[in-house]
Amino acid sequence: MAGNRTFTMIKPMAVKNGFIGPIINKIYEGGFRIVAMKFLKLSLEQAQEFYAVHKGKSFYDDLCVFMSSGPIVAAILEKENAIEAYRELIGATNPEEAAEGTIRNLYATSMQKNAVHGSDSDENAIVESNFFFSEFERF
Ligand code: CMP
Repeated sequence: MAGNRTFTMIKPMAVKNGFIGPIINKIYEGGFRIVAMKFLKLSLEQAQEFYAVHKGKSFYDDLCVFMSSGPIVAAILEKENAIEAYRELIGATNPEEAAEGTIRNLYATSMQKNAVHGSDSDENAIVESNFFFSEFERF
């Protein structure tokens, strides 16, 4: 059975462009409950660890530099069938392919600067949530 939690980050460029508010609005409009949320800046080493599954890919080094270049918002979100529901709300990884009205369609500037991250499986949602949040930071 699909789980009811996913993990997201609002990426540095979307934060810099002033899109924290509009993106959180879309998350609420999409029917998600915020379980945990924090505003922070990753070190390069933390970004490398978070994205370790992509190590060796052509975009890995640049992605880690970018993700540690400025503050981000990290959050755990709750809704029935959360992984699929959130992926639908944010749209395709490549913003050029993201459906109209999705978060990436509205707020992304490129594949790397694609506004938000969303977990791709229940297993990864747990690993990614644990990377940022203790049990005492979830409500
Ligand atoms: P995200 O959901 O954070 O997960 C991994 C990220 O890698 C992805 O969003 C994109 O920002 C980035 N990414 C994936 N594929 C490519 C690619 N071909 N070129 C550049 N960046 C990519």
